[in-house]
Amino acid sequence: PRAVRIIALDGPAASGKGTLARRIASHYGYRHLDTGLTYRAAAKALLDAGQPLDDEALAARMAGDVDFEGLDRSTLSAHAIGEAASRIAVMPAVRRALVAAQRRFAEEPPGSVLDGRDIGTVVCPGASVKLFVTASPETRAKRRFEEIVGKGGDARYEAILDDLKERDARDMGRTDSPLRPADDAHLLDTSEMGIESAFQAARDLIDRALAAASES
Ligand code: CDP
Ligand code: CDP
Repeated sequence: PRAVRIIALDGPAASGKGTLARRIASHYGYRHLDTGLTYRAAAKALLDAGQPLDDEALAARMAGDVDFEGLDRSTLSAHAIGEAASRIAVMPAVRRALVAAQRRFAEEPPGSVLDGRDIGTVVCPGASVKLFVTASPETRAKRRFEEIVGKGGDARYEAILDDLKERDARDMGRTDSPLRPADDAHLLDTSEMGIESAFQAARDLIDRALAAASES
């Protein structure tokens, strides 16, 4: 069995992969990287510098400068940053820069949990366990809606749903590293699951996969 355990979680926006990834990392004592934040940090650097989003070489340079230790969702959560992130995420040079650093993070012992769109397919194809987390667009839109309203924000469910569908189409339709389950990923549909039951289901899958790996 490999020394470094890598747990890969992929899935569309608001499927619950981030919440699961944090729970799983703390349960197993592994480090966690939300790779969406790395795309967001590169996008924010471009926006802050007042630079256009369509200059691939410049975007790749910003991606190369992302500080993986200083990633903080609270400073990267703006809607405009998410939009810009999904735009620069179609650029191969941006992906190359971020994927190289994501792999370095993943390979540090004793283990790591990475969540994103292409962890099982591209970043860590040899991961110990791969989960593909999904939920219906309506469930995901409802979660996002409640998240925003819960923080005292203003939101329209229909607008969030349209936005999620557009984001899904861009993530699944791009040529470089499209969002899709790896052939050996376990599918976890959380549409009818609360956070606790999703965590139990994920833990069962992971425990079984890790046990099978250490027997072989
Ligand atoms: O807004 P949401 O939380 O769903 O997305 P995120 O995980 O913060 O990621 C923002 C954008 O980065 C996504 O829409 C993807 O286009 C892109 N991304 C990616 O291409 N590959 C990853 N491994 C992670 C994120
Ligand atoms: O990382 P990703 O965009 O896939 O989703 P998330 O940020 O982990 O979850 C989106 C929202 O859905 C959060 O507010 C979670 O608390 C909520 N959630 C839920 O209600 N039920 C689940 N089974 C998973 C997440």
